[in-house]
Amino acid sequence: MAYIFPCFLCLSFLLILSLASASPPFTITLSLSPITHSLASTNSRDHVSDIAKFTIQRACHLKTPHKKPSPVLHGSAQTPLYPKSYGGYSVSLAFGTPPQKIPLVFDTGSSLMWVPCTKSYTCDNCTFSHINPNKIATFKLRRSATFRIVDCRSPKCEWLYESDVRARCPGSRPQPCPTYLMQYGLGSTSGRPITENLDLPGNIVVEDFFLGCSVYSVQQPQGIAGFGRAPASLPNQLKLRKFSYCLLSHNFDDKPKSSALTLIGTKSSCAGRVHGVKYTPLLKNPSKSPYDEYYYIHLTKITVGESKTKVKLPSKFLVPSPNGNGGTIVDSGSTFTFMDPALYGPLIKEMAAQTRNYKRVHDVEVQSGFGLCYDILDARNVSFPRLVFHFKGGVKMELPVANYFSFMTDLGVWCLTIVSPSSPAGPSVPVGPAIILGNYQQQDFYIEYDLEHQRLGLKKQKCK
Ligand SMILES: *[C@@H]1O[C@H](CO)[C@@H](O)[C@H](O)[C@H]1NC(C)=O
Ligand SMILES: *[C@@H]1O[C@H](CO)[C@@H](O)[C@H](O)[C@H]1NC(C)=O
Repeated sequence: MAYIFPCFLCLSFLLILSLASASPPFTITLSLSPITHSLASTNSRDHVSDIAKFTIQRACHLKTPHKKPSPVLHGSAQTPLYPKSYGGYSVSLAFGTPPQKIPLVFDTGSSLMWVPCTKSYTCDNCTFSHINPNKIATFKLRRSATFRIVDCRSPKCEWLYESDVRARCPGSRPQPCPTYLMQYGLGSTSGRPITENLDLPGNIVVEDFFLGCSVYSVQQPQGIAGFGRAPASLPNQLKLRKFSYCLLSHNFDDKPKSSALTLIGTKSSCAGRVHGVKYTPLLKNPSKSPYDEYYYIHLTKITVGESKTKVKLPSKFLVPSPNGNGGTIVDSGSTFTFMDPALYGPLIKEMAAQTRNYKRVHDVEVQSGFGLCYDILDARNVSFPRLVFHFKGGVKMELPVANYFSFMTDLGVWCLTIVSPSSPAGPSVPVGPAIILGNYQQQDFYIEYDLEHQRLGLKKQKCK
């Protein structure tokens, strides 16, 4: 059912908003740690390997040119991803003829592609940044020669309404596919389904691309580029074999620095293989909508500290049950990783037991929504226990300390950047995904969604 997308952007927005109440949003001032501090000597080697990568990418592109417009991507394309002050990453895509470039939230946790559309686009409660207040770029329908209203009988209309489509499109006369209303937790958007040309870097034109033309939204910093698993998502429309990214560490500002989002399509001579990547299977959720559009992976355990102490996690939360609840999803649209209280409790307990050198500040924890915060007077030499997520297939995600402990400027303390609903005793069974791996924990990892082989590739890497 496409109406209710419990997108998890909302949770992150809430957190950012609550933290951003005093001017600038919190910044991460330093990431001194034994784990992250070995970069100086590897710089020149990294540079050479970068050049090698660019050369291969260029060869890929030259060998599989994309001459004619097509509804799918042949070959490959790259486009920049920008960390944003609202806590997500933004990708700019160009739609229409002539092309209009529109920045969108890059979201692997939802599937509809939609743009703020027409001059009369209205957005309520959409100011997310003190640095760059509300100026939302809109797609001007009237200036494009190629947009089409989606017809009710088009298979694309069924992407939105699934089996409901017949009830919504009575009779057999041509009529527009009905207006959509998408709920993203607190926020929402509504508009009309259209098709347009999508222009990708490298003179690639994808025609007949399904897109929402939204005229009214609540709590949306930008439109959304849905990279989820439902048919309407960009990867499925373009029939991508894989896509990958490496998220730059973000400071919740809007500096124009970026890293690449790589899209590998059909017939690409470029496998996009990156050395040293480890793979874990992408699981299908046994239940239907909305959970089947998320990228599930199997977290097998979490270990803490040098002694690699295993956190005691209730196993029924780790894999989706037949009714679809439980399991871990990867979501670029969430800022901080979310954990069900049943998993969060034991993690906090172990982390706190191994962090004895700093003073815990319970009052700040209650007030901020972060579950583990420390007052550290001498911030020149901060260290926390090692944190490793283990996934099926022997894949280890050893997090850089900066990915899970940050100095919160507004609060004046250091907090674990993994969050959970505040009630200490959550439900005894999970509802929806039990863990949502947010973009903050994905920083400085190469992450590859290998759709062809239904697996997720991970590699620790300094993104540039
Ligand atoms: C906008 O935010 C205010 C304050 O949080 C709230 O009262 C109002 O209902 C919101 N507006 C919409 C349209 O959601
Ligand atoms: C940092 O802390 C470690 C362990 O607590 C200590 O051995 C080291 O001397 C400290 N370094 C500085 C510069 O304070």
